Amino acid sequence: MKIAMASDHGGYEYKETIKEMLIDQGHEVKDFGCYSSESVDYVDMIAPACESVSRKEYDRGIVLCGTGIGASITANKVKGIRCALVSDIFTARVTREHNDSNVLALGERVLGIEVCLEIVNTWLNTEFSGDERHERRIKKLMELENE
Ligand code: RB5
Repeated sequence: MKIAMASDHGGYEYKETIKEMLIDQGHEVKDFGCYSSESVDYVDMIAPACESVSRKEYDRGIVLCGTGIGASITANKVKGIRCALVSDIFTARVTREHNDSNVLALGERVLGIEVCLEIVNTWLNTEFSGDERHERRIKKLMELENE
């Protein structure tokens, strides 16, 4: 899979660890920064990563900050993005099955790294259910972008 990743300083360490795991698994990863623990503004990295997913240059995006909140709010401002801020394995699976989320947000200061890695694996390996009711809801959701 082609995966766009981005974080601010609050998510930098986990971004690096998750990136390493994904590359080991054979995924193609583009890192939109940041590239150190120096303080930055999350919008500057998260928005370009999500825009690349929106343009279909990447299949999915994974974005991180301290809480995951700034990252997820930014991601959901980008047209075409359905970002889920996830803290547990159940939600990681269901947001793929029901919401067809194309970006995953994680909070480095909230979760342990092992939980994050498992969330990432679950989220990447779960397909959208394709159920008509979920398709209908997503269609309504995406139409909000045209208002
Ligand atoms: C940075 O200190 C922190 O505010 C940021 O990583 C994130 O948690 C914002 O939502």
